[in-house]
Amino acid sequence: QQVKPFDYIIFGATGDLTMRKLLPAFYYRLSAGQVPHNARIIGTARSPLERSVYQDRARDALKRFVQPHDFHEDLVEQFLNMIHYVSLDGSKAESNWENLRSLLNESPQEQIRVFYFATAPNLYGAISENLHKEGLVTEESRVVLEKPIGIDLASADQINNEVGRFFKENNVFRIDHYLGKETVQDVIALRFANPALEAVWSAKYIQSVQITAAETVGVEGRAAYYDHSGALRDMVQNHLLQVLCLVAMEQPASLEADAVRDAKVKVLQSLRPMDETRLKNDTVRGQYTAGQSNGIAVPGYLQELGESSNTETYVALRAEIDNPRWNGVPFYIRTAKRLKQKVSEIVIRFKAPETSLFPQQPRSSLLVIRIQPDEGLSWSLETKNPLDDNFALQKATLDVNFSKAFDVRYPDAYERLLLDAVRGYPVLFIRRDEVEAAWRWVAPIMEAWANNEVPMTEYKAGSWGPKQAEEMLAARGDVWHEDM
Ligand code: BG6
Repeated sequence: QQVKPFDYIIFGATGDLTMRKLLPAFYYRLSAGQVPHNARIIGTARSPLERSVYQDRARDALKRFVQPHDFHEDLVEQFLNMIHYVSLDGSKAESNWENLRSLLNESPQEQIRVFYFATAPNLYGAISENLHKEGLVTEESRVVLEKPIGIDLASADQINNEVGRFFKENNVFRIDHYLGKETVQDVIALRFANPALEAVWSAKYIQSVQITAAETVGVEGRAAYYDHSGALRDMVQNHLLQVLCLVAMEQPASLEADAVRDAKVKVLQSLRPMDETRLKNDTVRGQYTAGQSNGIAVPGYLQELGESSNTETYVALRAEIDNPRWNGVPFYIRTAKRLKQKVSEIVIRFKAPETSLFPQQPRSSLLVIRIQPDEGLSWSLETKNPLDDNFALQKATLDVNFSKAFDVRYPDAYERLLLDAVRGYPVLFIRRDEVEAAWRWVAPIMEAWANNEVPMTEYKAGSWGPKQAEEMLAARGDVWHEDM
């Protein structure tokens, strides 16, 4: 349903995220009737642009990132009318705040104010302070912080402290767009609305869990950011650990934000810390070399960058959770740029029977939760081969594609999250202690990699990653999903 009228003030409004994700997401929610006519989106960035020029850029963004059959001229016009632009350096007290103030003053007092920080995270504190000094932070104002929050625990603490001086914790919305993905939220529904599934959701029946976020793109125009970040900070510390939390958490007391976050943070705190041996055996980092991406020849990471670099574009890890439910179950996590296929998925590999009644050993049953693309579920089970009178087995797969089954468009994660911040509904955002626990767990990995205690491997663009990642699984008799 429609949210209350809002002013959404975006810092970093000329950036890639705003154009690619935020503006199209607002457009889709307007088209769904969820955005009231008197809502406004106020872009701010340093560039001195006329409002009309910014509106033209917004139109181009919609042209590029909205499906052609969803691009309706009258709706686009209505959308562009909601858009304003203020040239402002939010991190500078001496910048020209007057225009933003007078624009905000035009709105009635009850208009909900959301500040969205899509800038470098080290500016979040300064922007918050300036907003406060200018008297723009009302009691109910919310702030949305894009990830990554810092580059390690100390910088995350600092940013959270600085922002926390001017915004109450329950008005701070730390975004992790993976939580906005419908199929990620589905993990909660699947587990806790189906007791039959939850009954086998433990080390007793599960052999391993794989969480993959594979991308075919390279670092695109983002090398300046990415080379300081790398796949571990960019994807694992946040998105993949959040997915892991939902797969592994105990049933929360309710679907209230704190109940769900309490359950998630317990998982993060139960991750077994990486020690020296595990850092060597259970972490793999790599960089892509020249190869093919979707049939097109592409350069390697270092060629793209034009200099040497110790930044990984590939990560594979074996995580373990020290609690009675998960003792001994490996959680394999991997993510990378320039892999063979774009796919994010969770693969639950159930144990095969220890002894076999049949002429052959039954294979593991796999439950695959396809996060994207092709959102859906598949479950492979052993069945009897009808052409064999000796009980030979064959795999049968139950498969459902959600958008076909339910005949709906699967929305982009940002659509839901942007409006949840207006609603003041934080369950799909990250609490401060989660950010900290996640940084704490990745810290030894970051340190060992920075000190080159784990060698950098290479993989060809368009492949499934370095052979060392295959070996990591083979050492325990496991294989990655694509090889199963
Ligand atoms: C972002 C990362 O958070 O997630 C990007 O910064 C990455 O590097 C993106 O490409 C992946 O998101 P999605 O939704 O396409 O899986």
